[in-house]
Amino acid sequence: MNSFLFGKKIAVLCGGPSSEREVSLRSGSAVANALRSLGAEAFEIDVLDDNLHLPAGTDLAFNALHGTFGEDGTIQSILDEKGVPYTGEGEVSSRLAFDKIESKRRFVECGVPTAPYVTLQNGEIPDLPLPYVVKVPCQGSSVGVYMVKSIAERDAALQQAFAQANTILAEAFIAGRELTVGILGETALPIIEIRPRGGFYSYENKYTWTNRGGAAEHECPALLSRWEKKRVESVALAAHRSLRLEIYSRVDLILDANREPQVLEVNTIPGMTETSLLPEAAAAADISMSHLCECIVRLSLERRLASKR
Ligand SMILES: Nc1ncnc2c1ncn2[C@@H]1O[C@H](COP(=O)(O)OP(=O)(O)O)[C@@H](O)[C@H]1O
Ligand SMILES: [Mg+2]
Repeated sequence: MNSFLFGKKIAVLCGGPSSEREVSLRSGSAVANALRSLGAEAFEIDVLDDNLHLPAGTDLAFNALHGTFGEDGTIQSILDEKGVPYTGEGEVSSRLAFDKIESKRRFVECGVPTAPYVTLQNGEIPDLPLPYVVKVPCQGSSVGVYMVKSIAERDAALQQAFAQANTILAEAFIAGRELTVGILGETALPIIEIRPRGGFYSYENKYTWTNRGGAAEHECPALLSRWEKKRVESVALAAHRSLRLEIYSRVDLILDANREPQVLEVNTIPGMTETSLLPEAAAAADISMSHLCECIVRLSLERRLASKR
């Protein structure tokens, strides 16, 4: 059966100016291949700044830009202005989900379990027991995340974080099992457990090509009791909804020592490379990469139509 994307002209936006550029180029190429296999005319566009030029007759844009510019509402507002339909969330919810401080506020307001945290201005020191994690609010791929296990590590972590932002956050370190849950529409995909080498899912651990053969191990579906699985799925969906997300996302959590999931963050443009977590979770639910891309486009277009009604 022909896909509804057959013959459609789709611009796959990838690369971009963020620290996740390399990953995004790989996501873009995987998405473009998947769309081509559905008969679409997909072409990759490396979007470096606000001057986005889409060829005449482009039907829609598939956003595979991770991090700043692509995931934070910026490209969404440019596309809205041009009137080009695009995949993923709109400007406002993208911005909210990308900001770890704003997201944590929403989680707390909506009763979504998350690690206790404080926000800090330059010169302030976290009033939290050790260990804790210092984070730059608007970064991705572990680029602005610093573990502080002892006082000796504190000042360097704060200095590095404040070099990137005026307001940062520090949150309690949660010991436990690291899980991630893909959300597609209203559904939680099979849960993945990540076993990062060295106990921290760093940039090197995330991408095999930066650390040949040294990547984190994944297990999908994660080995969880029925009760744990239900709880993790419901917390992941609650996190997704608390940020008013409607299309797709990937929720990062830690199942703590009391077997309670604690949400770390929600990614609205998760990786789509051949080793990425969302395609892996989809595959475990018998959803191929091309079907996953098709679902993302369908949900995005339906959402757009509904908001125009
Ligand atoms: N509170 C925490 N407790 C334990 N580990 C954490 C905590 N926050 C982050 N981490 C580790 O750091 C990684 C990156 O943090 P995350 O908040 O997901 O930011 P991002 O993926 O956007 O860089 C996580 O995947 C996890 O391994
Ligand atoms: Mg993360």
